[in-house]
Amino acid sequence: MADQAQNLRKIAWEKKKKAKYITVSSGKGGVGKTNFSVNFACLLAKNGKKVLLFDADLGLANVDILLNITPKISIIDYFEKNLNPDQLIVNTAYGFDIIPASSGFSKLASMNEEDFNKLIDIFVYIDDIYEYIIFDAGAGISENVMKFVSISDINIILTQAEPTAITDAYALIKVANNQYGLDEANIVINRINDEKAAFNLFLNLQKIIDKFLKIKTNFLGYIREDTNIIKSVKKQTPLAALNPLSGYMKDLAAIIKKIDGIDIDIQKSGVSIKDILRRLVS
Ligand SMILES: Nc1ncnc2c1ncn2[C@@H]1O[C@H](COP(=O)(O)OP(=O)(O)OP(=O)(O)O)[C@@H](O)[C@H]1O
Ligand SMILES: [Mg+2]
Repeated sequence: MADQAQNLRKIAWEKKKKAKYITVSSGKGGVGKTNFSVNFACLLAKNGKKVLLFDADLGLANVDILLNITPKISIIDYFEKNLNPDQLIVNTAYGFDIIPASSGFSKLASMNEEDFNKLIDIFVYIDDIYEYIIFDAGAGISENVMKFVSISDINIILTQAEPTAITDAYALIKVANNQYGLDEANIVINRINDEKAAFNLFLNLQKIIDKFLKIKTNFLGYIREDTNIIKSVKKQTPLAALNPLSGYMKDLAAIIKKIDGIDIDIQKSGVSIKDILRRLVS
């Protein structure tokens, strides 16, 4: 049975949370969420924001891989060994922190209410430390994904241009709207080279959404196809650090500007000596 005190803490957290909680989700898998989330966190951090990237794909960790980190702990330890939330935080060389997920633990693939309340305790603890808490969600419309969606202030739904990806994005928005009360969705079209084509895809999706659902949709922008991202995955180094002036990063900076009005200087994205030292001593 969920502990009463935990529920009260959750309500208190919801009332006074200060950090901005952002979920990056998608209907279809493999459309680019984790790369987007990692570089998003990098850009915000390099522009002076305090950022935590939470690997919300709880049973299929990927954030640590893209950052070439082998964490000694992960979220499963929090549930199984009763660690404190601060013991889960891992510094990166890129000025932001992560909370790593675990790989291959099916237990966390579907959290029950009690687990979820325990998870909220992490946010109660870290809310004061960070300005942005980004959830890199798993693909699809699972209960886990919906839980992160429903506690976020900003929801970004990433899709690609193929009809299957767009259909799955619609399915996710439908479930989030009908069953979890989501009232605003921000769409990003990834791997498309033409802004007009991206906007037209958005308009088509919006037309269907407006017909069947009661939810506001915004076009956040598009990200071009950029082979640099494939190199960065191979090198396990975020593109923000590997090639800060690449097309992908320019598009991402424009998206962040739209989300929060922040003027991102992509030149600031390289790794600083300070960050490397911080990581070495952590
Ligand atoms: N803009 C882009 N240009 C070129 N390739 C891209 C772009 N975005 C993503 N990719 C490719 O897509 C792959 C999958 O990206 P990523 O792991 O970020 O997707 P995901 O949505 O997090 O996947 P999952 O649903 O499995 O969590 C990357 O390894 C890269 O090869
Ligand atoms: Mg991913």
